[in-house]
Amino acid sequence: MSVDTIAINRQRGAFEEQASFWLFGYGSLLYKAGFPYLECRPATIRGWSRRFWQGSHDHRGTPDAPGRVATLVEEAGAVCTGMAYRVTPEVLEPLDVREKNGYLRFTTTLTFTDGGTDQGLVYIATEDNDAFLGPAPALDMAQHIARSAGPSGPNRDYLVGVAAALERLGAEDTHVATLMQALQEVEAGPETQRAGRLPARPGTA
Ligand code: SIN
Repeated sequence: MSVDTIAINRQRGAFEEQASFWLFGYGSLLYKAGFPYLECRPATIRGWSRRFWQGSHDHRGTPDAPGRVATLVEEAGAVCTGMAYRVTPEVLEPLDVREKNGYLRFTTTLTFTDGGTDQGLVYIATEDNDAFLGPAPALDMAQHIARSAGPSGPNRDYLVGVAAALERLGAEDTHVATLMQALQEVEAGPETQRAGRLPARPGTA
């Protein structure tokens, strides 16, 4: 599938006819809305796990040196915490542009932390998009994130922004916590890595 998903998303439709609808954010949309919204509520979605497995050619990297950002992967029983924004259809066009690097619109059920459920829209970069990177050892991913940057800024700020937003929500995410620990080791320098606070091949996270 082409990296640029704008045309595909316009055809997917779904929420255009509604006066307002819920958008679920789990990556940059979790910590930096950047669009007008009517209200926001912490929420979870089931069956999806947040993973830094998507390449970023346009925000936290470049086509020649993509960064590594969040997408969702299917995992039975998983619960992903994020932020739900109630938005009007006018935000769809700029959102499709912002999420054009491989992300497709999906409809899913949101469970609000303060009670209730509703249908909502979520942008997911599936593994068949050309920018998908997939899993790698945590230390490799952290090194990749530490050295990458793009028009939206350093890649490490994206990871730190997601981690800080999850902390504010009181949400646990083992994958993000593992990457944050690995990033701290990388940024502390090679001496710290050699000291063995991280296993040499910590497995995928
Ligand atoms: C999201 O945040 O919900 C989608 C991925 C991103 O923009 O980082």
